[in-house]
Amino acid sequence: MTVETVPLQFPASLDADLYRDFGREIRGVDVSKMTEDEFAEIERLLYQHDLLVFRDCDLSPEQQYALTKAFDPSSENYGHGNNKVEKSERSLLRSLLTTLPNVPQVQLIGNGLLENHEGIPNITLKHPSHRTFHRTPHLSAEDEDRGITRFYRWHMDAALYEFAPPKVTTLYGVRVPDAPTQTCRYDDGSTDELEVSLGATAFVSGRVMFDILPPELKSLAVRTRIQYAPHPFVWMSSARAKPTGLGLETEGLEVAYESLPQWEASKVQTLPMVWKNPVTNGLHLQSHPCAATQLFVDPVPETASDKTSPPHPLGTQITNLQEVRDILHEIQRPAIAPRYVYPHNWNQKDLVIFHNRGVLHSALGSFKPDQIRVFHQCNLAASDFPLGPSLEDVNRWS
Ligand SMILES: [Fe+2]
Repeated sequence: MTVETVPLQFPASLDADLYRDFGREIRGVDVSKMTEDEFAEIERLLYQHDLLVFRDCDLSPEQQYALTKAFDPSSENYGHGNNKVEKSERSLLRSLLTTLPNVPQVQLIGNGLLENHEGIPNITLKHPSHRTFHRTPHLSAEDEDRGITRFYRWHMDAALYEFAPPKVTTLYGVRVPDAPTQTCRYDDGSTDELEVSLGATAFVSGRVMFDILPPELKSLAVRTRIQYAPHPFVWMSSARAKPTGLGLETEGLEVAYESLPQWEASKVQTLPMVWKNPVTNGLHLQSHPCAATQLFVDPVPETASDKTSPPHPLGTQITNLQEVRDILHEIQRPAIAPRYVYPHNWNQKDLVIFHNRGVLHSALGSFKPDQIRVFHQCNLAASDFPLGPSLEDVNRWS
C-alpha cells in the first residue's frame, strides 16, 4: 500500500496560507494493521502536519490503544495516570471520561444513553456543556435551541501533574449524530463566531499561535516557563471559565492547596511555554491556560539578536494569578480567532490522530439528550517531557 496524503477540507473562514501545512487526510492505509514502514511514514506525517484524518475506519479499543502506544512504545498508562484523583468527586474530568473496562487506556466520551457498549451495560453520557464551566451569563435556552454554542475548554490532553504530557491523542468517532450546523459564539466582547457541525472538535495550531505573535511577545514566550497547579483539575474545579473557554476568570474560587488531595512538590510541573517539534524543529506555543499558576521568565541572553524591547528583559517570576492569566490570554487569544480555528466536522468512523504537543483543542456543541454521540479517546502519559526552545531559538527570538 502507498500512503497517500490529501489536504483537508478547510472552512472558508480559515487562513489557508498560515494553515497550509496543517492537517492531512490519509488514504491507502489500514490503521488497524499498519506495516512498520507505513507507521514510520504516518509518524513523520503527524509531526509534520499536526493532525491526520483517516476515514471509514474499523478500529477496536485494543487496536486503538496499540496504535496510540506505537507513537511512544514505552508509555503505559492513560494520560492522566491510573490513580484515582481524576475519578474523584472533585475532579473536573470525572463526568467527562469513562474508562473502558477491558482497555483502561481508552476512554469513552459522548452524549446520550448507551447500552451494552464494550463491557459497559448501560450508561448515560453527557457532552460537556459550557453551563457547567463558564462564568455566567451563559447562552440562553432559546439561543441553544436555535443552535448557538461555545467552545467548552481550550486545552491539550495532559494531567500536568506527575505524568508527562502525551505525545499524541487518537479520537475515534464510533457514532456521530446527524444534525444541522451550529454557530459557536465567542461572547467575549468581540463579534467573533464560527460555523461548525454539532459536536465538532475545534483545533488550533500551536505553531501558528507562536508565528502570529508580535516580536516582543515571541521574546517573552521563548524565555518563559509555566508552572501548573498540583492536581490542576481538582484545583480548578470550583473556578469558572471565560466565555471562550480560553482560561479562567480570576475570582478566588480555586480550591485551596491545603484542601487538595495529597500532593508532592516534586510532582508539580514547570514546563516551557514553547515546545519544539521533534521532526520540523518548529516552535509551538503550548500552554494550558486554565491550569497555570506562575510564570518564570528568563532574562534576554547577552547573545540575543536584540531587535525588540521585550517585556521583562532582566527576567522575573510572576506569581499574581490575574497577571499570569492576563499574559497567557494576550498571547493565546489571537490564535483562537475564527480565521485560525480548524473545526473537525465528524463523520462516523473517522479517526483523528493529533500531535498533542503541537495543537490545542476544544469540544463544542449544544446537545439534546436524544442526540447520541459515541467516541473513543486514547492518549498515554509520555515517556519523556517536551523539549523547550534551543539556545539558538532563544537567541533568535529574544
Ligand atoms: Fe481533549
